[in-house]
Order: sequence, then structure tokens, then C-alpha cells
Amino acid sequence: MKVTVVGAGAVGASCAEYIAIKDFASEVVLLDIKEGYAEGKAMDLMQTASLNGFDTKITGITNDYSKTAGSDIAVITSGVPRKPGMTREELIGINAGIVKTVSSNLLEHSPNAILIVVSNPMDTMTYLVHKTTDLPRNKIIGMGGALDSARFKYRLAEALGAPISDIDGMVIGGHSDTGMVPLASHATRNSINVTEFLTEDRLSQVVEDTKVGGATLTKLLGTSAWYAPGAAVSSLVQAIACDQKKMFPCSTYLEGEYGLENICIGVPVILGKNGIEEIVDVPLSEAEKNKMKESAAGVSKTNGLLEL
Ligand code: LAC
Repeated sequence: MKVTVVGAGAVGASCAEYIAIKDFASEVVLLDIKEGYAEGKAMDLMQTASLNGFDTKITGITNDYSKTAGSDIAVITSGVPRKPGMTREELIGINAGIVKTVSSNLLEHSPNAILIVVSNPMDTMTYLVHKTTDLPRNKIIGMGGALDSARFKYRLAEALGAPISDIDGMVIGGHSDTGMVPLASHATRNSINVTEFLTEDRLSQVVEDTKVGGATLTKLLGTSAWYAPGAAVSSLVQAIACDQKKMFPCSTYLEGEYGLENICIGVPVILGKNGIEEIVDVPLSEAEKNKMKESAAGVSKTNGLLEL
């Protein structure tokens, strides 16, 4: 199993680190345009191998895509991250050009790869890859919902004073401050609906804190987060590499599912060796359906800024 991660910035390096620590891939190639940078990150990570107990071989490459040939899965993290006060949508101008070039370079050398898109605005970048490559939709996966769901669970655990392992919950919709739809009505604490434990106001606060999860971190860090994004990507990569058939909300091209079409947006999917193996139709309340519609309108508006 060969995995390429394009972009050796904080998110890309964190992805490579978590993939290696989980020790399911034989090889991770980290590629960056900055001379020597990916090589340095790869060497530093390889020097943790004996300490962290993994055998995955991490190689760093400066912009030579021939070294990524034969990748089974490729992760696109390249582009600029947001600065405090910026929305993810504001990054579209620079990142669209980068994502288009990167996906085309990757597929030239690994035509059978499954692509995972992380660069922001993620739903629109996933749509761009769908529109500019010949890949079938099951092989183009946008990473947002897995991260947003992890942030939702963190906030729920905090509000409940419960361990995170007791919490389950999912965030669908667009990966943006206004577009996320945390499914509060389905969230549980050890199989009991969280609405049994939290007041409506407290649960609304959890939902709001979840939606601005990335922005809160950007304000604190001065740039966008990397540990949870890296861990979320590694979970998707593992689900595909190990054919786990696990359910994650991912951005995928919809053809009528959830009443939406010609859009990539977060919905629950089953991930296995073929990438997205199924789109899961979860029953939504009327309020959640309306929020999903509003979210899709926002994503479509950003998609309209693409020069396709
Ligand atoms: C975040 C970025 C990865 O939400 O979009 O942290």
C-alpha cells in the first residue's frame, strides 16, 4: 500500500505521521514544492520510527511526481491555509490552480489512485477535481466531515463531562463556518440521545462551537489546525487501505442523493477498498433538511467562482 501526501506543511506532515504511526501502509511519499522541505520532514519522521514502533517507509520528494508513481491513495493538502479572520472560501483563488495542477500530476503517474482532497475551500476543491479529471466519483473524497465530527464529539464530551469514547455524533453539510450541519438529533452518549442530558441551549452552544471549530483554532494558532485534520485524514486512508467499510461523513459528488445534484458536500458514506462504496441515506429532521439545503446553496455559490 503506497500513499502519497502532497504538501509537507503542518497538515500534510501530520497526515504522514499518523498514517505511519498506525503502521498499515508500506510506504508514504511526502511531496512539496519547497526545495528539501519534504525530505527534511520525512527524515525527521523516520527518526521517530524506532521510538514509535512503525515500519512504514516515509520518503520526501521535491516536486518530482514520478516518485509518486503507483500510489494507491493520494492526499492533496497543498495550497495556502487561512489566517485569523479569513473564511475558507477566501482561499479559492490561489488554491484552485494548485489543486488542479496537483491532481493532474498525481493521476499522470498513478491513474488508479483514490484521491482525498483536504485543501480549502474543501467542498469546492473536491468538486473541481471531479470536474477536471476522469475519475469516477467513488475515487474522489473530500475530507471535512470526519474532522468536524471529531470536533463535535470533543464539544459534546466537554458539555457532558463524559469521556469522548462514550460519545458518538456526526457533522454533515459543507466544511465551512456557516455550512456545517451537526446532527444533534442523532448524537448519543453510550447509545442514549444527548438531548436526554443537555438543555436545548447547551446543545445549541455545542453546535455553534463545532461550526467555528476551525476558526477558533486559527485565531489561537495564527494559522489553521493540523493535528485533528491529519488524524482525520489518516482514519479515512486506513478505512480504504484496510477495506474497513467504516462510515464517515465525506464530501462526495451527489447525483440526487439528499435531494442534491451537481455538488460535492458532506454526507455519510461507507469507505472501503474502492473508496466511497455507498452513500448512506440518513433520515433528517425538517430543520436538518433545511440547514442542508442552505449549506448546499453556500457551497454552490463558491463553486460558481471556479473557472471551469
Ligand atoms: C480545519 C481546516 C483543515 O478545519 O479546514 O482545521
